[in-house]
Amino acid sequence: MSVNKEVKRITTNTLQKMKVNGERISMITAYDYSFARLFDEAGVDTILVGDSASNVMAGHETTLPITLDQMIYHASSVIRGVNRSLVVVDLPFGTYQGNSKEALASAVRIMKETGAHAVKIEGGEEILESVKRILAAGIPVMGHLGLTPQSIYKFGTYTVRAKEEAEANKLRRDALILQEAGCFGLVLEKIPAALAKEVSESLAIPTIGIGAGKHCDGQVLVMHDLLGINTEFKPRFLRQYLNLHEQITGAVKNYVKDVKSRDFPNEQEQY
Ligand code: KIV
Repeated sequence: MSVNKEVKRITTNTLQKMKVNGERISMITAYDYSFARLFDEAGVDTILVGDSASNVMAGHETTLPITLDQMIYHASSVIRGVNRSLVVVDLPFGTYQGNSKEALASAVRIMKETGAHAVKIEGGEEILESVKRILAAGIPVMGHLGLTPQSIYKFGTYTVRAKEEAEANKLRRDALILQEAGCFGLVLEKIPAALAKEVSESLAIPTIGIGAGKHCDGQVLVMHDLLGINTEFKPRFLRQYLNLHEQITGAVKNYVKDVKSRDFPNEQEQY
């Protein structure tokens, strides 16, 4: 029997056991109660309240504008829909990079005001002090290396990271530093599969990949991409499991047609 089916509530400890047993970890983003409930019922191991909410929920071009209050609103809605999955919440841009005291205050607000189980932070050595201070308060931290979208204006592009040896070496070092600090897991975003394999095998903590190949200990996708809500976003790493864009626009077109033609509501659909 898989580790995941034996447990009632997934914890960071469960993820660790899954890595040891070679059982892959599934993660999906969610930003509201209804979808979180569906994903939890479908048996996903962990739900990420990603700052991708800035893109897919608010329509911003980058993840930078979303605020801590907005992340808290999304995370507390998600938590109300979840019984079993581990819920991880992104600390948004500007709430942890400045100093570790501010980082701790942001993480404490997320834990206190949402009931979430862990936070995720982008970056390596540069944010180590913040990571350590949050961990010292007993808050589980997930790291995030490779393409870190909060640094998009530094990178200038969303292409694959760590293709050059210098950047790959920094990523190897950062992964070890984050593990030694006590992070319970690591997201690896858009890096070569061979590098992700090497890092995943060298770490005791689980890696969760997005565009990082099949050797990560788990995978994460943004719900809107996986469900085909945003059909214009088609990176090579994405597997689209539904075409909700087509299904929803089709359904709403039918609704509009029925209202215009006075077919809806009919005799049975009124009081
Ligand atoms: O915000 C997000 O959705 C993320 C994932 C892409 C890992 O950080």
